[in-house]
Amino acid sequence: MQKLYGVIGYPVGHSMSPIMHNDAFERLNLEGYYHAFEIVPDKFQTAIEGLKALDIAGFNVTIPYKVKIMEHLDEIDPLAKEIGAVNTVVNEKGRFIGYNTDGEGYVTSLLSTLNKRDLTECTVLIIGAGGAARAIYFTLATYKQPPKQIDLCNRTPAKAEELIADNPAEIGSASLSIEEAEASLAKYDIIINTTSVGMHPSTDASPLRLDYLKKGALVSDIIYNPLETKLLKEAKSRGAMIHNGIGMFVMQGALAFEKWTNQRPYIEAMEEIILKKLEHKKEE
Ligand code: ATR
Repeated sequence: MQKLYGVIGYPVGHSMSPIMHNDAFERLNLEGYYHAFEIVPDKFQTAIEGLKALDIAGFNVTIPYKVKIMEHLDEIDPLAKEIGAVNTVVNEKGRFIGYNTDGEGYVTSLLSTLNKRDLTECTVLIIGAGGAARAIYFTLATYKQPPKQIDLCNRTPAKAEELIADNPAEIGSASLSIEEAEASLAKYDIIINTTSVGMHPSTDASPLRLDYLKKGALVSDIIYNPLETKLLKEAKSRGAMIHNGIGMFVMQGALAFEKWTNQRPYIEAMEEIILKKLEHKKEE
């Protein structure tokens, strides 16, 4: 029998996850169907009970439910608990188990761009201190071979300080103002933007000036619309390696797919389908 999967969110109509996962089921000859379920906030609990009653095999969770879903799960993976958000749920014999594949998806994609297995020689700067920063920071900090140092800079420094205080691993970390980060940029091998600054339609904005960018540095942006934000354009013009948000989106989905089916989807095909969809969106 065909198994049911999906994503829950509000709104979720523009989600690119259904085409990506449905294509992956087809390619692997798996009987699965992935649907975007838009759930209005006051029906959240009923909807989750409904998904359980329907015996959904697994689902993704997106904005605004990544934190709220946690009260409705039977078990939560330790890293997802530390991150404080769940983006993937697996139905194991009627029990809903929560995971977070956002951070791991990001780090896997980053390592693949860097063509590295570890980040032990790297000093990292994360811009932002929201949910995405938390997932990436904690995943990097608890990685088998973590970076030497992970600093954070945020418009509101108190939020970066809170993140550092919550960090589950013993890793050197400092909170900087945006100006301090700009002035000491030459220290960092990897710079990661986790804020929405530069995202469509505000494509003229950039979260950080790159005047003192280190030679050979990599600049990464979790934004994928546009594929090249102002930050990445500037980094490229300075000769830096760049990494956009497509890889994180695809890998968080691929890792979820693997948890549900025990099969690894074709990553390149997933990426291709998302790039095509984004291209199509631009034309709309
Ligand atoms: P997400 O879950 O996507 O990370 P979030 O939790 O709302 O979203 O966090 C958004 C991050 O982007 C925060 O670090 C926020 O900075 P503040 O903590 O100062 O609010 C940052 N951010 C959003 N808009 C910004 C802007 N215009 N300039 C600078 N930082 C911005």
